[in-house]
Amino acid sequence: MNPGYVFLHTNKSPYMKNRSLVSINDYSKEEYLKILNLAEEFEKNPRQEILNGHVVATLFFEPSTRTRLSFESAVNRLGGRILGFADSSSSSATKGETLRDTIKMVCSYADLIVMRHPLEGSARFASEVSTVPVINAGDGANQHPTQTLLDLYSIRKTQGTLENLNIFMVGDLKYGRTVHSLLMAMSQFNATFYFISPDELKMPDEYKRYLKSMGLKFYEFKDFTDIINQADIIYMTRVQKERFSDPIEYERTKNTYILRHHMLKDSRANMKILHPLPRVNEIHLDVDSSEKAYYFTQALNGVFVRQAIISSILGLK
Ligand code: CP
Repeated sequence: MNPGYVFLHTNKSPYMKNRSLVSINDYSKEEYLKILNLAEEFEKNPRQEILNGHVVATLFFEPSTRTRLSFESAVNRLGGRILGFADSSSSSATKGETLRDTIKMVCSYADLIVMRHPLEGSARFASEVSTVPVINAGDGANQHPTQTLLDLYSIRKTQGTLENLNIFMVGDLKYGRTVHSLLMAMSQFNATFYFISPDELKMPDEYKRYLKSMGLKFYEFKDFTDIINQADIIYMTRVQKERFSDPIEYERTKNTYILRHHMLKDSRANMKILHPLPRVNEIHLDVDSSEKAYYFTQALNGVFVRQAIISSILGLK
């Protein structure tokens, strides 16, 4: 974790200003909380024209609906301008331009870069080349830190706390970057983790070693129907088709878990179902009507949290 930053309780956040956000570990626990508190302010008052005159570039080398559009919505609501691309086939990457050269150009056009790229480590590389801060909007199976901050916001909002919760992570724990980032963040709040996956998609060993080093409890299961009553949060994930080298393995694992409404009958009153979305089959449509289904509100929370992240990094809040 990042031990290096002293947190000052001021209205502005000098220690986030001009810093890239590549990994969730780039922020301290206090900085997570600062972002969540600021996001609460934006939820109450989303239209604050504090980004006038600023330009944000969104470079999406991989498809996205929520991350790109919620970033763009956040910038628009703050009164800033957006440039960029939603599909790298419309950029000069198709002509062979390197990521290094692309970033060196874009940082002269924008005050902040938001980038999604299929290669793990690409966001860190971009942040080292860029003269303006870079926000990682997902790099391969590695990290998706802004998703994690909106997940933390959603968990705190629904549970009233982030401390001492039982977090179920279900599905593709091998390739799912959102669960990797969320695990690291929730490890700061004494969570107990329940990893539910088929053998092929288990949580990688390095994350389990990390939890052991922190003295945190985790359990691994292949099924969760009999233990669902222990969950405060069920974090469902999609099997990440785009990360499989073997399409047969994807076909074999893609429908391992399908959450149905009737499975929720013994769940706790406070339990909420989260999913970073998009979903494929892993949450049946009959769950949508449940008061425990929170995934669409979770995605909405992304706008407020991204307003908080952008304004903190640009030193405007
Ligand atoms: N949660 C998320 O990253 O969704 P998108 O892939 O649509 O951006």
